[in-house]
Amino acid sequence: MKAIAVTPGVPDSVHLVEMPAPEVEDVPNGRGVLVQVLRVGVDGTDKEINAAEYGAAPEGSDFLVIGHEGFGRVEAVGPNVTEVEPGDYVVATVRRPGRSIYDLIGTSDMTTDSVYYERGINLRHGYLAEFYADDAAFIVKVPQGLKEVGVLLEPMTVVEKGVTQAFEVQRRLRVWRPRRAAVMGAGTIGLLATLLLRLRGLEVVTFGKTPKPYLNSELVEALGATYVTSDDVPVAESPQRYGGGFDLIFEATGYSPIVFDSMQALAKNGVLVLSSVTGGDRRVEVPADKINLEFVLGNKVMVGTVNANREYFEAGVRDMSQAELQYPGWLARLLTHPVKGLENYRELFEKLTTAKDAIKVYCEVA
Ligand code: BGC
Ligand code: ZN
Repeated sequence: MKAIAVTPGVPDSVHLVEMPAPEVEDVPNGRGVLVQVLRVGVDGTDKEINAAEYGAAPEGSDFLVIGHEGFGRVEAVGPNVTEVEPGDYVVATVRRPGRSIYDLIGTSDMTTDSVYYERGINLRHGYLAEFYADDAAFIVKVPQGLKEVGVLLEPMTVVEKGVTQAFEVQRRLRVWRPRRAAVMGAGTIGLLATLLLRLRGLEVVTFGKTPKPYLNSELVEALGATYVTSDDVPVAESPQRYGGGFDLIFEATGYSPIVFDSMQALAKNGVLVLSSVTGGDRRVEVPADKINLEFVLGNKVMVGTVNANREYFEAGVRDMSQAELQYPGWLARLLTHPVKGLENYRELFEKLTTAKDAIKVYCEVA
């Protein structure tokens, strides 16, 4: 079969490979699921992998098949699989268990191991291929009615985990009635975070860089949220504008200095969720005493979040279903840049790195 791969360590090495197709029998204990890949989304992580800033090949391989935002249809299942059957639409999780206690209880997204295994990212081949096989434990069923937008499930899980973690952390307060949220960034993750927080009934202000109107600001407003640029309303000064600050802030800009501004935009008892993977070495000067004092006197908290395990994929399916009922057609508007066929991998990366108006770039594999 064909697959899109990179040579880790070599910048701009994306290329097509020919490799044996996987089989249900490759997975032990009769628990294999063979999936025909239909669509795969690409994101900043793929950009970094192709720039050789991130990612590693599986042991014994000199290439890494990329793609971690997969969507496909079950082709065949092993004798001990009851959860899905041929014809079902599915999405696979990304990370595979390591050895820490968190991995052992099914929460590899919380691993403390220094080495982690992620399909399409680190030490495991990904989904930008005609087929993949995996254990049913990592395969999540997607209802027929979500097949047009199922490729957005993996990015949705990033947001599901972040928001769930925020609510878990806030159980410290015995009673927490968040009303006002801010989302930093209006890319795919920022938009999906805006969606999820609106579905949870919060007022949301989404901060972007680009002046409105443009597609992303229209998508924010279609959810009944407010779009502002950080040039018009500096994040650190936004509490004056928005009644004393935000109860919950979801940071998804990829620009780390915004974190310290966001810390100053939190309301008392507020929670700040950080989700940007920032590979660089940027430095900033910050009003450290002020930030610290307000955190202490206001009992504020900040939490990092990465990856997502099965429970967040299942929650993502439920919330995307609700989104289709509450904001019909909204999710599909994020699918701005399709690229047909694995053989057009150049065009896929071209769009990923240069298309200014892109929200989600994805490959239509079949
Ligand atoms: C993926 C996550 C992964 C993270 C770090 C993100 O792009 O969506 O699944 O854990 O990168 O590798
Ligand atoms: Zn990703």
